[in-house]
Amino acid sequence: MRKSKSNVGRKDARRVAVKPDLPAPNSRPLLQEALPPTSQLATLQEWLDFAEHMYARAGLALGQTATNAHDEALYLLLRLLDWPLDSDASVLDRRVAPALRIRLRQALEKRVLGRIPAAYLTREAWLGEHRFYVDERVIIPRSYFLEHLASSQLDALLTNPSKVRRVVDVCTGSGCLAILLAHHFPKARVDAIDLSTDALAVAKINLKAHGLARRVNLHASDVFDAVPPPAGGYDIILSNPPYEPSAVCDALPEEFRKEPRMALDGGRDGLTIIRKLLQQAGERLAPEGIVVIEVGGLRAAMDREFSHLDPLWLPSIDESDCICAIRADRLAAAAGGQKRTGKSRRQT
Ligand SMILES: C[S@@+](CC[C@H](N)C(=O)[O-])C[C@H]1O[C@@H](n2cnc3c(N)ncnc32)[C@H](O)[C@@H]1O
Repeated sequence: MRKSKSNVGRKDARRVAVKPDLPAPNSRPLLQEALPPTSQLATLQEWLDFAEHMYARAGLALGQTATNAHDEALYLLLRLLDWPLDSDASVLDRRVAPALRIRLRQALEKRVLGRIPAAYLTREAWLGEHRFYVDERVIIPRSYFLEHLASSQLDALLTNPSKVRRVVDVCTGSGCLAILLAHHFPKARVDAIDLSTDALAVAKINLKAHGLARRVNLHASDVFDAVPPPAGGYDIILSNPPYEPSAVCDALPEEFRKEPRMALDGGRDGLTIIRKLLQQAGERLAPEGIVVIEVGGLRAAMDREFSHLDPLWLPSIDESDCICAIRADRLAAAAGGQKRTGKSRRQT
């Protein structure tokens, strides 16, 4: 229900972009048409039908909380009503008390007319069974890493997963992946890095809520600039960095432009942060460690630029295969090659 294709929910964004005959989102006609009177809506089913109709009419962008309007609207309504998310179908026949109907209408106005992402209205996002606090200071969590941790694909790349002791999440945002790592590797100390102090403030809230404030250390840093290599190196360097090319960010639907631009924008070709990360990772990795990076639609670009690092692409259920793993020995070999090349250049 909460899965999307990439950090910008690319497929959903395209679907929205081709709606030809809608008025501009904030224009007066849409404002008048978008939310007709709701006084006749009594049951949750009636509110859900209404919400779905409004989503379609306004051409809302999806992919941040769910990939279809039904799932997102149902989630939003249940959360606003404070009714359980795992309710059975009979909940649809429940009548909504008049006082609560005002709350639903106001929230739908914000979602449909203001294009505010559902997660910013509910102040939460879910990865699997894990709940994270979110607000406009962070991107809404939707990473593929959940799938790879849950399916033990990462474990399969490690010599001994039970011996993982040092892990780092670079570009941590809300801290969601650092927290998943800490849960998955209970004996590991976790570093979590972000350049945005706003994001780190949100990560701090989540660490406290998950009881991990002592085991996960937050660092304000431009990639690894302010974080020295740990003794013995990291067993895992994980990152879901900003990787969208700047031109893609310029053309994003409004919902995605409500997220911090620096969480999405990977520079001209999307690779700016990834290049820096791979350059700094070598001297920070344990001898049998791995770097794992989510790169969205950049697989071909990665294979072109980093073929010497032998990126290994991890399969995902929807076949987007957008996470790659790179081994410490490949980075070391590349660094050795660079040193040799530098030396021979200096000699000539
Ligand atoms: C795609 S978001 C990922 C957030 C989180 N890990 C997740 O999966 O939801 C990328 C994060 O990278 C951070 N960031 C951008 N540039 C950075 C840099 N140069 N160094 C460290 N973090 C950076 C952003 O602030 C943002 O929180």
